[in-house]
Amino acid sequence: MCVLVVLYLSVSTFPVGLVGSGWVQTLCPSSRLSVHYVTFCLIQVKRFLEPFRLSQKTLQDISSRLTQDMIKGLGRHSHHKAPVKMLPTFVRATPDGTEKGDFLALDLGGTNFRVLHVRVNEDEKSVLKMDSEICAIPQEIMTGTGEQLFDHIAACLGTFLEKQGLKEQVLPLGFTFSFPCEQKEIDKSILIRWTKGFNCSGVEGRDVVQLLKEAVRRQGDYEIGTVAMVNDTVGTMMSCGYRDQSCEIGMIIGTGTNACYMEEMCNVKRVEGEGGRMCINTEWGGFGDDGSLRDIQTQFDLEVDRSSINPGVHIFEKMISGMYLGEIVRLLLVKMTEDKILFSGKVSEKLRTSGAFLTKFISEIEHGSFQRILSDLGLQWSTADLRAVHLICDTVSSRSAQLCAAALAAVANRIRTNRGLDHLDTTVGVDGTVFKKHPTFSAELRSMVHKLAPKCTLKFIVSEDGSGKGAAMVTAVAQRIAAQSHLIDDSDEDELEEN
Ligand code: GLC
Repeated sequence: MCVLVVLYLSVSTFPVGLVGSGWVQTLCPSSRLSVHYVTFCLIQVKRFLEPFRLSQKTLQDISSRLTQDMIKGLGRHSHHKAPVKMLPTFVRATPDGTEKGDFLALDLGGTNFRVLHVRVNEDEKSVLKMDSEICAIPQEIMTGTGEQLFDHIAACLGTFLEKQGLKEQVLPLGFTFSFPCEQKEIDKSILIRWTKGFNCSGVEGRDVVQLLKEAVRRQGDYEIGTVAMVNDTVGTMMSCGYRDQSCEIGMIIGTGTNACYMEEMCNVKRVEGEGGRMCINTEWGGFGDDGSLRDIQTQFDLEVDRSSINPGVHIFEKMISGMYLGEIVRLLLVKMTEDKILFSGKVSEKLRTSGAFLTKFISEIEHGSFQRILSDLGLQWSTADLRAVHLICDTVSSRSAQLCAAALAAVANRIRTNRGLDHLDTTVGVDGTVFKKHPTFSAELRSMVHKLAPKCTLKFIVSEDGSGKGAAMVTAVAQRIAAQSHLIDDSDEDELEEN
């Protein structure tokens, strides 16, 4: 009877059952006892992971909550208090394929800071990266003063131009700055707040383009042309849009997570003009900052948020993106070991160190390579531990893919209803290490979006260097479309707004 119970649990609840554990046999020599012990362990693992499993009904509900928050963010007055900022980008058109020229691009906000020289080639419909360079941003600069940060950026740009023999040219520059900014115009962009580990003083509330231009002036030995500010989601959409003109959504699942899409101007209440469309940077990472996701946050999500440098900010992102997934797994491993479910109850010093379990380990473990990771973490494991660790990684990454799917379904459904369509066919440009590197993430995301938005058919294009090339593309499109609109004055009053 006991054996039957164990088999049932291992098959139904755990794709990689823990039955046959060597250490369980060691701890509990009698086979009858060991069976009970395995059952006990399975129930314990299940208990920990249960809150991470979200039903399709819950995901549907989360998708609807995001839709409501998107409407709030678009409202002329309600946006002030909206957790999902829905920022107008002043990108009014996707590429039409006639753009051309040489551009510089800066890309700040992912894993690295990069400088690029990009050529947009009209004849071949290609965006070519002529050359690029990565500049490390030391931790002390990430959390130092704004002036230090922008001087560092301008110095890296200067060195790059020197090496490329471009110092005498004045090239237009696309600046991919992947943080929430209130864009006033294509070249005026006020940082709302830092996210993803950056926290430089004196930048929030200031125009980032201005700060860049001042820093270039301080360098004194080169000049830059017109500047266009871009969020990485927008860059990704635009770079895919040159190849596929039906690309109307850009999505990032990397260090952070976010998406942009083309919204009808008549719904963008904060910008003058009723006709056409404008790209909206949703900043969906902030979903839940008003407590609306409290019911699905686990104790581990709460802990990751509490120990971050910006508690209470970007709650959705902290359940999904590369900056945080590894830490969620680490906290689960520590707790399960302390509760003697894993690693014979022995927590290593390394495992106790915050940040020690990198998000890339999740992909590696799901690919099946454990040994080096666990031994570098100072752990001693049994076969049962390996299976449990695999299961933990799989559960955390699946939840991330499913939550992204719920958010993407909200965006796709919105585009469809905006246009009064029974069925929407559109393309999503995607970038980010979690999406690209994890073995099953993309498949899981696609299959869940399909379930949550059955009236939308989404084609995914993985962007290569979207942030860099896309910034050049935005600059090119902006040059094509000279006329820009302006933000309408707004107030802080509450007002019921519906779209
Ligand atoms: C964070 C930023 C957002 C960016 C995303 C992906 O959520 O706030 O602007 O697009 O990370 O890099």
